[in-house]
Amino acid sequence: METELKFDFNNLFSFSVKEHGVTPQELDAAAALAQEASRHLKKIIADPLSRVNLSLEWVKLPEQSEEDIAQIESLARQIAKEYENVIFLGIGGSYLGLKAAQDALCPPYYNDFERVRKNGPRVYFEGNNLDPDTLSILLDNLDPKKTFVVVISKSGETTETKAALILAEAWLKKGAGVNYGRQIVAITDPEKGSLRKRVNLEQGKDPLSFRSLPLLKGVGGRFSEFNMGLLHLALSGVDIRRLFAGARGMLSRCSVDDPLKNPAYLYALLHYILYQKKAKSLAVLMPFSQTLKSTADWYIQLLAESLGKKYHRQIQTGPDGREIWEANRQDIFNRGRTPISASGTNDLHSIQQNNVEGENNKVVTFIRVEKFNSELKIPGEGELLSGRDFSALMQLAQEATEWALVRQNRPNCTIILPEVSAYTWGALLFFFQMAVAFEGELFNLNAFDQPGVEGYKNYMYYKLGKPGIPEEVVEEIKSHPLVKDHKYIL
Ligand code: PA5
Repeated sequence: METELKFDFNNLFSFSVKEHGVTPQELDAAAALAQEASRHLKKIIADPLSRVNLSLEWVKLPEQSEEDIAQIESLARQIAKEYENVIFLGIGGSYLGLKAAQDALCPPYYNDFERVRKNGPRVYFEGNNLDPDTLSILLDNLDPKKTFVVVISKSGETTETKAALILAEAWLKKGAGVNYGRQIVAITDPEKGSLRKRVNLEQGKDPLSFRSLPLLKGVGGRFSEFNMGLLHLALSGVDIRRLFAGARGMLSRCSVDDPLKNPAYLYALLHYILYQKKAKSLAVLMPFSQTLKSTADWYIQLLAESLGKKYHRQIQTGPDGREIWEANRQDIFNRGRTPISASGTNDLHSIQQNNVEGENNKVVTFIRVEKFNSELKIPGEGELLSGRDFSALMQLAQEATEWALVRQNRPNCTIILPEVSAYTWGALLFFFQMAVAFEGELFNLNAFDQPGVEGYKNYMYYKLGKPGIPEEVVEEIKSHPLVKDHKYIL
């Protein structure tokens, strides 16, 4: 029997942080909105057509079959048996969840020590940037014959991932020979995109080349760790069944209608009120655990892409009864809390100064770990620190940080993890995903698209001469060039 996550929301209320916290009246006043948000979310989740169409199918990911898990584990075993290194290529939702899992669920210094990674392959992440330095050093130092490449891109069109794949392919071809395609697995859309086309082409020639794993329909990148991350989890020896069990448990806790009994709803509702009524526009996520820092980075994408939006949402019903959401261009929102990732205790010597004495415009969420995987006692006697456990000091530091914030009336809350395990991490991710989905309802936004990231892509494609860019996009770029006055370039 696993111990469940706990949530301490005390310091988000006015009885703790005075005028910077939520009052009982404010909570009461938001009850009708919360009830409607809960009703609507439940309705979409219960309707398979809307769920897939609106990209909420991620709620079903923890229910994947034993057969699917076993198939992925078998592929992972084959790869681990034959290769010393695996490079995962992907960016955004096709990278951040994997990196978060790697750091949270695999031992630290994984690549450095064979015993630590139980003789499994080393794991590298690339294709998440256009910085030439990292990929070139990696490829210069790995042996292509001993390296497997997993490329992950739902659209199959993302520039960073594509560029890295082209390079990695050329490197494999040169170093591993004509059958190099057998050293590549592609995780991409089951039907669309140029990566899918490539998979189909290569598979037609050689079924062992460019093998591919299915992505479920209706799951957006940042909500897809339990889909596109599975091969990585299996390769790194993570217990996928425990992960799913944790996520399922959290889904059930976060499906209760009453926000006061539903951790994700209450978290979202309190943050919504703090944003709307107290101008708390920054969301700092501060795990007191080095291994959860990348989970905070994953959360940045989740919150920023889901809730930082230009327009409110307009809901329509299609002829088959499914909901259709469109941006309401008459109703500009242009808001969204800005996420910041930090970690205890290192950032207590950094951002903490601003958290305590800078503008009171933030809400800090701590993640506290009750039991770490290692015990480490400071030896000796007679010193203040002698005989103390690192983990006890970590917990004390978290409590002290909480106290320091409350003393200055800075709203904060704490998510308590009994331990960092596949079960609790699965639950944690699902908690955040449910909270973001609920907050999207409160704001009446589409939390599952990211139209704002298209601007830079279009500009790049235009400059690169990509064919097929819509005429209006070309016109917009041409008529709005970047303006540079040389006197301001020093
Ligand atoms: O959340 C999302 O959908 C995006 O951030 C994507 O994950 C990101 O743009 C990468 O896209 P793709 O997987 O298509 O390469």
